[in-house]
Amino acid sequence: MTQPGMELQELIAEMEQRRGKVEAGGGKERQQKQRDGGKLTARERIDALLDPGSFLEMGTFVEHRGGRLMQGVEAPGEGVVTGRGTIDGRQVFVFSQDFTVLGGSLGKMNAAKITKIMDLAAKTGCPVIGLNDSAGARIQEGVDSLSGYGEIFYRNAIYSGAVPQISAILGPCAGGAVYSPALTDFILMSEGSSYMFITGPEVIKSVTREDVTFEALGGADVHTRKSGVAHLEYDGDAAVLAGVRDLLGYLPQNAHEQPPVHQTDDPVDRRNDNLLDIVVPDQRKPYAMHAVIHELVDDGTFLEIQPNWAKNIVVGFARLGGQSVGIVANNPRVMAGALNIDAADKAARFIRTCDCYNVPVLTLVDVTGFLPGVAQEHAGIIRHGAKMLYAYAEATVPKITLITRKSYGGAYLAMNSRDMGADVVYAWPTAAVAVMGAEGAANIVYRREINASDNPEATRAEKIADYKDAFDNPYVAASKGYIDDVIPMEETRQRLIQTFAMLRDKAETRPYKKHGNMPL
Ligand code: HXC
Repeated sequence: MTQPGMELQELIAEMEQRRGKVEAGGGKERQQKQRDGGKLTARERIDALLDPGSFLEMGTFVEHRGGRLMQGVEAPGEGVVTGRGTIDGRQVFVFSQDFTVLGGSLGKMNAAKITKIMDLAAKTGCPVIGLNDSAGARIQEGVDSLSGYGEIFYRNAIYSGAVPQISAILGPCAGGAVYSPALTDFILMSEGSSYMFITGPEVIKSVTREDVTFEALGGADVHTRKSGVAHLEYDGDAAVLAGVRDLLGYLPQNAHEQPPVHQTDDPVDRRNDNLLDIVVPDQRKPYAMHAVIHELVDDGTFLEIQPNWAKNIVVGFARLGGQSVGIVANNPRVMAGALNIDAADKAARFIRTCDCYNVPVLTLVDVTGFLPGVAQEHAGIIRHGAKMLYAYAEATVPKITLITRKSYGGAYLAMNSRDMGADVVYAWPTAAVAVMGAEGAANIVYRREINASDNPEATRAEKIADYKDAFDNPYVAASKGYIDDVIPMEETRQRLIQTFAMLRDKAETRPYKKHGNMPL
């Protein structure tokens, strides 16, 4: 304890001794347990995330608030390390929960450390990165810990769209420790060592009698494949943290700024002759939309978001001529690219994320329509599909739509047609825009004629050919101005870069409102 009359050296020694205690967290034994589980400690994670030597710690000496059940309990650093640093030279704010201190549980002062850096991030216009490894609300602090979460959730929500918020899940996260990440822009998980659940296996067993492991309940596989809660999974802490750095490279510091430009040696006028081998003109045959994306973007680099959930739609970040771009593309290899509930949710969320952070959107269309089925209708495909319509219409960033092959029905609109707000619509010669495929259309419109015919199959073939002639090509839509140009596939990259450059200073306003009422 500091006493009057202490010498300077003693004062410095006291500071160092106190700091050392904080930095030791829950002690060597618990840290070793953390490492044995393949995890880094809270401070090692910060070192791995930030540019070397850039971390400036804040709230180092904060202590818990006490209360009857916390009497005599030591919580070095209050169970969380907070501060600022840089990633590729750009300032970010970071908190790293320390599982070795009371399971990284969140008490009132632990929350105060986190909200302090969230507020600084909002005031200075910088991203917030949360490294989550927490057992949730600190049971001993009761309502104070709930209040702490409330303060964090409130800020997650009000700073949403103002500054990027990224959550890395690096341990068993329960209760409030998962709802805060759920309010942020992106969730990245480590395979085999991170879990997310509202209530853990023990509580579930006592309530529903279901027997489930941590992994099967809320592991990275579950949340990146089944629930869609998490966006990306990696092998281990270091890979997750590298993933956070990579992701940030596509985003601006805040909603007022543009994403950073990355120089590339990939020529803007590189021809895309490979597309002629990738894309199959036969509407019934699949091809690799991922290969199309890799062919078009700078250096073939595509950061796919939610690659293993709702795989019938592909979303992610890439660069064109050094500029960040968000890509939304149908995947003809899964459900023939049809839109279903999960695909609509995934795309709508991604489009809104791009719009928040000034990332232009490129939409690649090859879609049969919305997925038919009782299950989809009863689960609310109308409500979920509407999110996509809403998100595209609401977005004011530059929007280019390229119809690669078929574009039918309501999905034509949901994939950002001209009428839904696309600034420029291109099509390849392989494109077809219609209310539905020619066979389905002929069967419905000419059913009576086909049935009455002496040779129904010949009549059907004739009607299908007739409908194809009328609609199964890009030129009808182009003749009506719904498509701005039908372009050679080989020149697509150059066209896209030129067109996004043309749209760079685009400004679009919307009527006054508090906020829109998006279908949820
Ligand atoms: C205080 C806690 C704690 C908690 C664990 N600890 N959970 N301390 N509050 N919520 C302490 C343990 O006593 C132990 O201390 C240390 O953290 C590590 O815990 P273990 O159980 O030994 O670790 P492990 O086996 O890895 O299990 C991790 C776990 C489990 C799955 C997270 O601890 C667990 O289920 N905890 C309770 C989770 C929970 O129900 N939280 C409340 C959620 S409600 P020592 O001293 O031994 O190291 C919530 C409200 C907000 O968050 C909701 C808003 C919507």
